[in-house]
Amino acid sequence: MRLAILGGSFNPVHLGHLFLADGVISAFGYDRVIMIPTFQSPFKPGAQITPPEDRLDMLAASITADPRLTVDPCEIRRQGVSYTIDTLGDIERRYLPQGKPGLILGDDLARDFPKWKKAREIAERSDIIIAHRISAGELPFPFPHKRLQNEIMDLSSGVVRDRIRQGESWRYLVPPGVRFLIEDRGLYGVKSPPPPEVLPGGEGISPQRVSWEFIGVVETLVRSKLTPGRFLHSRNTALLTHDICLRFHLDAVAGYLAGIAHDMAKSLPEDELIRLVGNDGQGISPMEHKKPSLLHARAAAVLLKDRFGVHNEGVLEAVRLHTTGDMSMGPLAKAVFIADKIEPSREEVDPRLRDLRRYQDLDELFTAAVDETVVYLSSRNVEISESTRRLLAVIHKKGM
Ligand SMILES: [Fe+2]
Ligand SMILES: [Fe+2]
Repeated sequence: MRLAILGGSFNPVHLGHLFLADGVISAFGYDRVIMIPTFQSPFKPGAQITPPEDRLDMLAASITADPRLTVDPCEIRRQGVSYTIDTLGDIERRYLPQGKPGLILGDDLARDFPKWKKAREIAERSDIIIAHRISAGELPFPFPHKRLQNEIMDLSSGVVRDRIRQGESWRYLVPPGVRFLIEDRGLYGVKSPPPPEVLPGGEGISPQRVSWEFIGVVETLVRSKLTPGRFLHSRNTALLTHDICLRFHLDAVAGYLAGIAHDMAKSLPEDELIRLVGNDGQGISPMEHKKPSLLHARAAAVLLKDRFGVHNEGVLEAVRLHTTGDMSMGPLAKAVFIADKIEPSREEVDPRLRDLRRYQDLDELFTAAVDETVVYLSSRNVEISESTRRLLAVIHKKGM
């Protein structure tokens, strides 16, 4: 296997790094590029740098499903300052590359290369590839090398960090997995939304934190399982649940997860739905027997819990109850119930329901959405579940 090495701080890894790796593979026919993060940069001694675990995680997140890219933590394991000659030996020993490994250098580093430890030996044991980084011209280089004819990208880790710090746009300068990690871990001073207040009735909900990285995994699976139309309904439900949560001070990230997952079992065959709900211990009602597709809500909650390890009770309840509703529903479940019924791709929704500012509290909006659902189902001669009927009776009696 022909290998090339791309070292750097990767603080954070960004699209410029990946574009460069891809460019080297395309231009010179390598099979794989190994990205090697420094523990401590020999070029920036003493500089404050993001912990190695975070930089390594971001690199790992940026190579998803591309077998031409990999990451090796040898310099982080070695700690201290690593020298390229040692890393080169380590890679040769463990990867047994076919021919000399490529060594990718930006022309900014190439200038000082002759001063590196055992520079001549590095140049003999590797194929040095010099990429344009600061100069469109060809800066002199005293050892054998190849030149990558790449465009200079006005993108560096420093640019990404500065943009985050200054509140400027940065999210699409890095791969999606890296964006999730920066936001979930609050790296580089990224501003995250304030934590939600706990509403009355919401205290019993397990506060297991939901990360965007995890949501990315669930969303990809949901997209692969549903038709495009159903997926967009799920996405719209996630967005509207998120917005309702922000409006009424609930956990908007958990709301997004419940919304994106609520119909994840929608395309499963009926026998699979029946098998899955066998795990939640609630039996099957006569109406569910008659119409097993109703079980897609409970089945999705089982999948989320058993296959994805979600234990946030608020999220599980919201998914489980999104079709029929229930009198004991917590606030997050109400938010998903509402969003599922009125999200923008649904036709025939009273437009007033979509104006969240009109409602002083969540229950007022919830009552209006339940009414709307019942009117809609009746107009189509769809049988209304016992649970929804009871719900309707209770909310009207309570004046909710
Ligand atoms: Fe559904
Ligand atoms: Fe739905």
